Amino acid sequence: MQTNHFRNLCLVVLAATQVVCVSAQKTKTIAQKVDSVLQLMTLEEKIGQLNQYSGDWSHTGPITKDGDKQSQIKKGQLGSMLNIVGVEHTRTLQELAMQSRLKIPLLFGQDVIHGLKTTFPIPLAEAASWDLPAIERSARIAAKEAAASGIHWTFAPMVDIARDPRWGRVMEGAGEDPYLGSAIAKARVKGFQGNGLGSLDAVMACAKHFAAYGAAVGGRDYNSVDMSERLLHEVYLPPFKAALDAGVATFMNSFNDLNGVPATGNRYLQRTLLKERWKFKGFVVSDWGSVGEMIAHGYVQDNREAAKAAITAGSDMDMESRSYIQHLADLFKQKQVPIVLVDDAVRRILTKKFEMGLFDDPFRFSNAQREKIVWNDPAHKAAALDMARKSIVLLKNEQALLPIQASVKKVALIGPFMKAVRDNLGFWSYEWPDDSTTIVTQYDGIVRRLPKDAIVHYAKGCNINDADSAGFAAAIAAAKDADLVIMSMGEARDMSGEAKSRSSIQLPGLQEALIKAIHATGKPVVLLMNAGRPLIFNWAADHVPAIVCTWWLGTQAGDAIGDVLFGQYNPSGKLPMTFPRSEGQIPIYYNYYNTGRPAKDENNLFYVSAYIDLPNSPKFPFGYGLSYTHFQYAPMQLSDTVLKGNQTLTVKVRVRNEGKYDGEEVVQLYLRDVTASVVRPVKELKGFQKIFLKAGETKEVVFQVKTDDLRFYNQTVQHIWEPGEFHVMVGTSSAQVETRKINWQQ
Ligand code: GLC
Repeated sequence: MQTNHFRNLCLVVLAATQVVCVSAQKTKTIAQKVDSVLQLMTLEEKIGQLNQYSGDWSHTGPITKDGDKQSQIKKGQLGSMLNIVGVEHTRTLQELAMQSRLKIPLLFGQDVIHGLKTTFPIPLAEAASWDLPAIERSARIAAKEAAASGIHWTFAPMVDIARDPRWGRVMEGAGEDPYLGSAIAKARVKGFQGNGLGSLDAVMACAKHFAAYGAAVGGRDYNSVDMSERLLHEVYLPPFKAALDAGVATFMNSFNDLNGVPATGNRYLQRTLLKERWKFKGFVVSDWGSVGEMIAHGYVQDNREAAKAAITAGSDMDMESRSYIQHLADLFKQKQVPIVLVDDAVRRILTKKFEMGLFDDPFRFSNAQREKIVWNDPAHKAAALDMARKSIVLLKNEQALLPIQASVKKVALIGPFMKAVRDNLGFWSYEWPDDSTTIVTQYDGIVRRLPKDAIVHYAKGCNINDADSAGFAAAIAAAKDADLVIMSMGEARDMSGEAKSRSSIQLPGLQEALIKAIHATGKPVVLLMNAGRPLIFNWAADHVPAIVCTWWLGTQAGDAIGDVLFGQYNPSGKLPMTFPRSEGQIPIYYNYYNTGRPAKDENNLFYVSAYIDLPNSPKFPFGYGLSYTHFQYAPMQLSDTVLKGNQTLTVKVRVRNEGKYDGEEVVQLYLRDVTASVVRPVKELKGFQKIFLKAGETKEVVFQVKTDDLRFYNQTVQHIWEPGEFHVMVGTSSAQVETRKINWQQ
């Protein structure tokens, strides 16, 4: 085991020049240590630090088979690798790095998006919990499992705001709202980085994808983005700034072009905004091959120009395009790229390696004993169950069909996901040999909660996405002999995620036909909706009495669903994204502008901003989610209705649990700036509190509103607030609020 590797590095190299730095190195700052290493580096070794390759453990992008990576590590031509998981593999490659002249340790990065060995709900599902401590804990556990297996750095949190559910990567983020997205970005960064870089259970986090990747035209992955700088700052940048303010170690740029310039070559984004104005001290990694992809964008001629554009724009590390390793040295020699840009990138990367303690001990994260203990910690499974339960959103529950009563003796469990195993993990998850024994299926989660003498019928009914109705008859027969039918439907695990945009977000295959056939039996149906995005299922939403949005809930999916269906946990989730009635409504989001001809009601279409064939309203709105109990909101109390300057508005609302079940409620605060120097949304989330109320209990929820909450980006992209009339709204969803007017004067 190497100890105080940096000391050895000094001794080995500087001893040759009779300059021993050991006595001084103890008092050196990291910046000084970085500089002392930088001074030793050749140009090739500097460029090597900016070069990142993928291992062959699992592929997350278009793989380029290229030469012998291991010999390049020994030559110091590689600074980082991704897709190398496990103590054994990381140790093997780190040992190669120790054979290089300067023995600079490798950084190992990985997409630990929602868990590694213990899979948590997909991030969009976690966002539906609105439970920041639970979300932070989820990231904390993911970090522990990653750090225990030699990983130093996760390419998460993905903080891209998205208003288009056709985009497959909505599953990876926190939905459509900048305020909720910012709060969750902060929670996830804190979770991943824990008590600080260098802790043995912390990994570097990575705010991605910088920037506005979620606004791809048509919801089509990697597609172009074009928007005003004002909208960029108003909606898409806040979660990145929140991640930065939370101390995120790295950023990852995005595949898309933004206003005509690919993000990877976008100097405004990476240098002017991120490194100069926001004073970001970490480093920026490109997305997979995105440096070289600027050729396809039509922004550069070849990889040499791509390397120049990217390093100049502030992209510090080149993931997998090989543009830097192949061209930066020559670009420097031809005076096309000044060494200061290379040195700045190297300093940023070496700084993180020092902060992670890798110069002291390059193998400190590769401890087999710790990996075994951490990966089998029962607390992780319990936390995953808790997170999964809190992520479930109850969309409909007519006749209080749920929770399932003890009187139910015969159930029919139907649908292609009822016995699915790995589908429960969602995209960006890892498959392990013991999955079949660790992942709780929805079938098992339900059956183990039924009375011992219950009769259970199972029928798959149909496949996920084909035209085979052969299974309908058995499913109908099962339903006919049941008191209650539970159907597990939705889209497959790999129908959302990267490069998984769908032009139609309806239920695939014959699923709706099967739901109709089962409904026709007259038996009460509970529908579980499994998806990585908002789906459209209008017929079911109008006819099926109980519907539960289960997203993809991870390793503990079945038990979480079972606890909700049988009432061990009262569902508390709220939608972090709008569910449309039709793809024709997309982009659809709650914080829209009023327009000059707002459609005040859905029946009056006389020259207003509306469709002639569909209401403007969504099927299920942002912030919506039901409970088994009912929360009654008393009229809100305002400290003032006229405020001046930097006063604080106190908003109080008493919430009472009027039902017979204890439960949690997400009390939401929205504001509207009625008139301003740019048009403002009809409402914007500006606060939320998730509270627990026992049956019959009342609590007072208090929000403090300050002028900072009124700020917006004006026509010159200044972040200001303006006096005038504001609407204060409090309620249980964006569509169910009480509104009061106030006036705020300069
Ligand atoms: C992918 C994704 C990015 C991921 C990276 C490494 O293409 O866009 O989010 O972190 O490559 O797998």
